[in-house]
Amino acid sequence: METSPKGIENTTRPSLQDIENLASRPLEELIHKADSLRRETYGTSVFIRGLLEFTNHCVCDCHYCGLRRSNTDVARYSLTEEEIEAAIRRGLEKGLGTFVLQGGEDPDWPTDRLCRLLEDLRWKLGDAFAVTLSCGIKSAEEYRRLARAGANRYLLRFETSDPDLHARLRGGISLERRLEAIHDLREAGFEVGSGFMVGLPGETDEIRVKNLKLCRDLDLHMVGIGPFIANPETPLAQAPCGTIEETLRMTACLRILLPDTNIPATTAAGSLVPGGREKMLAAGANVLMPNLTDLEHRQNYRLYPGKVALIRDGVEDLEALRQHLLSEGWKMSLARGDSLAFH
Ligand code: 5AD
Ligand code: SF4
Repeated sequence: METSPKGIENTTRPSLQDIENLASRPLEELIHKADSLRRETYGTSVFIRGLLEFTNHCVCDCHYCGLRRSNTDVARYSLTEEEIEAAIRRGLEKGLGTFVLQGGEDPDWPTDRLCRLLEDLRWKLGDAFAVTLSCGIKSAEEYRRLARAGANRYLLRFETSDPDLHARLRGGISLERRLEAIHDLREAGFEVGSGFMVGLPGETDEIRVKNLKLCRDLDLHMVGIGPFIANPETPLAQAPCGTIEETLRMTACLRILLPDTNIPATTAAGSLVPGGREKMLAAGANVLMPNLTDLEHRQNYRLYPGKVALIRDGVEDLEALRQHLLSEGWKMSLARGDSLAFH
């Protein structure tokens, strides 16, 4: 029988105290445990998703985000259906099995339009590939329609599990509404991803532990986390950023708490420190999302400053990415890479 160090047994429903004990273990120990669990479930494979940032318009006013509606310094864009289709075709030619369509909450992309796009993509390109949507809060009925139209997965981070901090940083939008939407996504049949930022101004150790617990309690299929990075075009311009150490600690804890879940090594970690994404992979992450968005638009998808690219464009140069991953001991996988937690 495996003997885990005290405090990091993988119990089914860990209490807040269990998670607090876990999160306070030495970082190397957490990383070691997370790495071995990840190898048991996903081996050395790293799943690749093509990320398409299709609109940077947003009606929300989150204090941390450069796409917030009050930021007048960002040039707004929205891709056309033709541009989205062309980008997906390019990705398919390279062998990609999953595409993530991410955007702000853009009234020019209502559910009807998204459904028409999805149906058209499925009609023309088939359904061998997975489509992940990440475009905010919608009604339960809208989520059902998007799933029927051909979307398979949905990402909606809860951002922070603390109701007051959530409301304060998201312009009064409640955590409760966010959690209701996550519930609706699950009911609609999506593979569901959520997650949080690490080191938001006002975050405490207790909130970090609650963030982990909420991910565990929601039984997420995918968990996306990344350090908060202060954006000079937002009210949080002067706030200190999250740290890579805390991000790695949270990554390793998530792998231990949710061994089967898909965890991306996120751009924010790579933007905070060189090699940040590689560090996340070593701490239990198993997904990378190279950017498919063309360079002209990408520079305006400014959630935070200093967004790094993966080996030039990543998708333009998948071979370089494969070699890079190999040199770190990982095997690049272009498969759909469904979450084992979903099955
Ligand atoms: N730093 C780090 N991550 C950010 N996001 C938005 N703004 C920032 C920032 N300043 C993250 C949020 C959002 C995702 C698309 O990007 O978690 O859900
Ligand atoms: Fe809009 Fe998302 Fe940015 Fe909030 S975090 S302003 S919802 S794009």
